[in-house]
Amino acid sequence: MTESSQHHCFASLIDDLASRGWSQRALFAPELLTRELAAECRRRAQTGELSAAGVGRGSAQQVQEGIRGDRIQWLEPGQSDACDQYLQLMDGLRRALNQALYLGLEDYESHFACYAPGAYYQRHLDRFRDDDRRSVSAVFYLNEDWQAEQGGALRLYLADGREHDVLPQAGTLALFLSAEMPHEVLPATRERLSLTGWFRRRGGDPI
Ligand code: OGA
Ligand code: MN
Repeated sequence: MTESSQHHCFASLIDDLASRGWSQRALFAPELLTRELAAECRRRAQTGELSAAGVGRGSAQQVQEGIRGDRIQWLEPGQSDACDQYLQLMDGLRRALNQALYLGLEDYESHFACYAPGAYYQRHLDRFRDDDRRSVSAVFYLNEDWQAEQGGALRLYLADGREHDVLPQAGTLALFLSAEMPHEVLPATRERLSLTGWFRRRGGDPI
């Protein structure tokens, strides 16, 4: 990806986010990187490295598959070239968001997520009651040739009462304001892989 096409991509994501609170962009990352990340997510899923995601935070966290059925693993720097490249890309987006919108985003946290067929995540907001640092949610999808009839959309509940569905197609990035956009993950007929993350503002200790 050239510097100017990346600049254009970031600018359109940021404009949409500022004007309506969400954005979606196909071919967000180079295709080779997307394929490598998909392979890594699949490998982690097959070797049992992913664990059932919890609901809530800290000691109050519980696995509740009736609310949320994905399996996840957090990204750390230095785990693989592909992950490091992705973290670098997202850090570029973080700096662009700060420059354009003065959001004061300090870091980015992200996990691989795998939804088995039939798994879903009920309607929710991405902000914890006791920690308001998550400001912008970013979901990057890793699924080649996704068809609408396979389900699995990210459904955004927009402020004007309408709904918008994002298909989890490999290379697509969905971006939205964490505290303001209710959303859910619909069940799918096939496995659904993604990298889900949050740009966080600086903040004191959680209450
Ligand atoms: C989440 C979430 C959306 C998606 O993990 O909080 O809403 O499309 N994920 O996977
Ligand atoms: Mn969410």
